[in-house]
Amino acid sequence: MNFRDSEALKAVLEADGHTLVDNESEADLVLLNTCSVRDCAEAKAIGKARRLLQNKRTNLRYRLGIIGCMAARRGQQLTKLLPQLDWVLPPTSLNDIPHIIQETLRTNTPKVITNFQSYNFACYEQPLPFTPVRWIPIQQGCSMGCSYCIVPHTRGHQQNRPFDSILREIQTAADQGTREIILLGQIVNAYRDNGKTFVDLLHAIQAIDGIERIRFISPHPTFFTDQLIQCFKTLPKCCPSVHLPIQSASNRILQHMHRGYTQETLTALIQALRTIQPQLSLSTDLIVGYPGETDADFEQTVQFFKKIQFDMAYIFKYSPRPNTPAAELVAVHGIPKDVQEKRNQVLLDCLSQSSLRYNQQFVHTYQSVLVEGHAPKGAHKLFGRTIVNKKVIFDGDPSLIGSFQSVWIERATTSVLEGCIKPV
Ligand code: 5AD
Ligand code: SF4
Repeated sequence: MNFRDSEALKAVLEADGHTLVDNESEADLVLLNTCSVRDCAEAKAIGKARRLLQNKRTNLRYRLGIIGCMAARRGQQLTKLLPQLDWVLPPTSLNDIPHIIQETLRTNTPKVITNFQSYNFACYEQPLPFTPVRWIPIQQGCSMGCSYCIVPHTRGHQQNRPFDSILREIQTAADQGTREIILLGQIVNAYRDNGKTFVDLLHAIQAIDGIERIRFISPHPTFFTDQLIQCFKTLPKCCPSVHLPIQSASNRILQHMHRGYTQETLTALIQALRTIQPQLSLSTDLIVGYPGETDADFEQTVQFFKKIQFDMAYIFKYSPRPNTPAAELVAVHGIPKDVQEKRNQVLLDCLSQSSLRYNQQFVHTYQSVLVEGHAPKGAHKLFGRTIVNKKVIFDGDPSLIGSFQSVWIERATTSVLEGCIKPV
């Protein structure tokens, strides 16, 4: 979401006459988009802001703002910590930022916004340069109130983008040549707008010419209805890859977390998805070391993880977030750092086995790859993704970016496939 917000912000600032520089050191004005989900993300952003503020010593025009979730959470407190900051702006204010910047430069007074307005989704309709894959925000905020999570405090309650605005953005992207869209939100499958549901949205996107692939992150297991499961069969553009954050597989911990499902309902859901779409790739988010997580609770998660064979997972060590119910349990039930670390490693080891096994099945097969861009390493290397969202690296001409190519897979690692384009 932050990545897409930064893209939207670039677009609104360019429309207002600002010029983007390639190198941070050339900028007179820097806006740091921040995340608050874990403490380490906040600490990193503060460190970076502190370093950047040194530029004010040599460049009198230098201005620095902090935007996004940390700005929403810490507001005025940030200006006490970093008194030279020019802006502290919550994620709701993207549309207003050009105007706020103009005001600050005119009056030379820093601006801190701490009140939550409602989201203005119009910034996402600002034209963006062509990309083969486009991230489409469909909602902001979250009303689920998971016990460990700061998002409802930083992004507010769930707000849905108007149905027509989403379709307009996708149509514009399709006209530019975008082939794949990824619907974005905290709980995408809880989307609702004037009686229209997430499933209605998938059906409407299926009808847009030019779009060949539809993905979405993140759905919540609780809102995975039968109609949504059916979409993996009835809508050919709906890619057979699901990111399903489960957080834990211990029913006791899931209940504490207020997740609203059990290991048994998860098993049934995954079975239903795999029955309707046997090719399905499945990834997840997990938290280790939640307050009060016993060895037995953790073992339940490990066994479930092994049983399901997720092909990818993001594993997080629990990070206490201020004003969340879980953080209050830490004093008595907190899990020591070394235990968190060990549990993290156990799951990472399971993951490297399951993801390697999963990826190896593609070796010596042709895969249809949507070519997305230059791979970070290697002069002639391109990268793209298969229908099940596996990253593929191969040699190719940049003119292929944006097209589908049949790629012969030669090697697999835990995280990528490597291959070449050769005649079938
Ligand atoms: N500590 C660790 N991980 C967290 N997440 C959310 N809040 C916390 C926290 N306090 C993880 C969840 C979520 C992902 C985006 O971040 O796994 O799915
Ligand atoms: Fe946070 Fe996701 Fe739970 Fe919402 S559903 S409170 S964003 S973990």
